[in-house]
Amino acid sequence: MYDFSISADQSPDILYNDLATATRALTDGESDSIANMANVSALIWQYVPNLNWAGFYRVVGDELVLGPFQGKSACIRIAMGKGVCGTAAATNQVQRVADVHAFPGHIACDADSRSELVVPVSKDGKVIAVLDLDSPLPDRFTAADEKGMTKLIAAIANGLG
Ligand code: SME
Repeated sequence: MYDFSISADQSPDILYNDLATATRALTDGESDSIANMANVSALIWQYVPNLNWAGFYRVVGDELVLGPFQGKSACIRIAMGKGVCGTAAATNQVQRVADVHAFPGHIACDADSRSELVVPVSKDGKVIAVLDLDSPLPDRFTAADEKGMTKLIAAIANGLG
């Protein structure tokens, strides 16, 4: 068991700093990407408030396939370029969506989701996966969340694929 002392009730800078330290500690020296994705999604789920889904889709061939996650069971395959995840993967750009209902082609895996943050995971310049976070709150994700999650994923990308 790992017990990280991270309080969710703190400034985003401190939260993401602590989270980055914890994710590095968890994934350092471990080459199994599925195990690493599982632990990272569990850590985010435990410490980041107001989420209803947190996890990964992996690039497999020409589509995204569901990876380790926390939350309700979800769509298994997403075509590249489709939905918020497919858009992030196809463009290698973070997608921070304040209102998922206003996003053309949004794929509703959980009807409770109102806002979404998707961060591409790239290795050697190629997108290998995306981190997908959903919230039941509208406009849940701030620029600080985008920055914090992007840094966190970049720091551990080697262990994710
Ligand atoms: N909403 C995502 C699909 C994945 S689920 O949210 C877990 C999308 O539009 O790509």
